[in-house]
Amino acid sequence: ENPPALLRHLTLVGLMGVGKTTIGRRLARRLGAAFRDADEEVERAAGRTVSEIFADFGEPAFREGERKVIDRLLAQPDPLIIGLGGGAFIQDETRALVKDKAISIWLKADLDVLIERVGRKPGARPLLSQGDPAEIMARLERERAPLYAEADIVVDTSVGSHEQSADQVIDAL
Ligand code: S3P
Repeated sequence: ENPPALLRHLTLVGLMGVGKTTIGRRLARRLGAAFRDADEEVERAAGRTVSEIFADFGEPAFREGERKVIDRLLAQPDPLIIGLGGGAFIQDETRALVKDKAISIWLKADLDVLIERVGRKPGARPLLSQGDPAEIMARLERERAPLYAEADIVVDTSVGSHEQSADQVIDAL
């Protein structure tokens, strides 16, 4: 059976390592839409990696660039699948923009699954270089879950493949 036509942008929110980019690419293929990764767009605009932006300019500057990039993506006329960086939906202004212009999907997973996944790419995530990654992830989950919960759709990615998570998103649309 055919997937539903996409009438609005879809944004994927959730903690680092949950699969926003991988599941987003699969969703884009299935729904016939383009995929954009907000972190990648920020990196392209800045000509630096996310880690370099944090180190050279600090997190507030990153958040400002991130908001601008997301604002620009949301202004595109054709519906996009957008993978947001894990902290984007936590910023009040960015979250308001996203809730206004897109369907938001919170991808959840058990903390131990996330910790294992982010451990595969050490150094890629500046927030996790500030201490013990497992402790930081646990704190971020505690702080952020109430805001991620404002998303329109919630999908648990702990069980099943990324393809099955994409199925669940499509079923929920
Ligand atoms: C961040 C998540 C990262 C990236 C930056 C900050 C966060 O994106 O935007 O390192 O605050 O959770 P991913 O969730 O794609 O790793």
